[in-house]
Amino acid sequence: MDKKSIVAGNWKMNKTHKEASEFIKNLAPLIQSARASAYIAPSFTALHDSITAAKDTNIIIGAQNMHDETDGAFTGEISGGMLKTLGIEFVILGHSERRHVFQEDNSFINRKVIRALKDGLQPILCIGETQKEREEKKTEVVLEEQFFKGIQNISKKDASNIILAYEPVWAIGTGKTATSEIAEHTHSFIRKLIIKHFDKEISKNMHILYGGSVKPQNVEELMQQENIDGVLVGGASLEYKSFAEIVNKA
Ligand code: 13P
Repeated sequence: MDKKSIVAGNWKMNKTHKEASEFIKNLAPLIQSARASAYIAPSFTALHDSITAAKDTNIIIGAQNMHDETDGAFTGEISGGMLKTLGIEFVILGHSERRHVFQEDNSFINRKVIRALKDGLQPILCIGETQKEREEKKTEVVLEEQFFKGIQNISKKDASNIILAYEPVWAIGTGKTATSEIAEHTHSFIRKLIIKHFDKEISKNMHILYGGSVKPQNVEELMQQENIDGVLVGGASLEYKSFAEIVNKA
């Protein structure tokens, strides 16, 4: 793949604003000459300081979630407009923890993707099957449903701003990475879904990231696969040295 690979760190509910800016200051010099783009998604409370720390570096800061409405009576929620004004560039949507722990459905996720695009944020749309679904051989049905419902009513022009992330739920935080064969097989299936819904050109240009127990030890093999354009990293993105190693190897 000739497009620039993306290494995105999803910090989940970790790090205070002080820890976040410390991390970014430590990370920046280590990845100065990396070929891959480095994305980091801190918690909402750390976004402002993270943007300040990432100024004049090649680190891109994003959020882990947002609401689909622009404003109103939605206690505890954050809008895309608020993120954009802060200087945020991307937003993770449909993460399996949002789907399974917070019961977000495909239609809500789709509305968020549409809003993020309208607000000028780049969505990282996550899809992935559970262990049970894989065992019942439902992986492709589940991915097709999450993908098609997630990108409904999105034009080809807007689609070029979307990043997809395949995160098998059984590989998240379990230390159980999908083998590079399983990941590649699934990514190539997703690539075909993009052609089916949009076209070949969009499919070729769209990044598909792999997520689920990515570490410095397995990133190179994953990145060698034709249809893996980057990685979405949880646990191993919390320590700047291991995250830097992943960015530099990707
Ligand atoms: P781990 O890398 O900790 O498995 O988490 C993956 C993930 O959920 C990234 O969004």
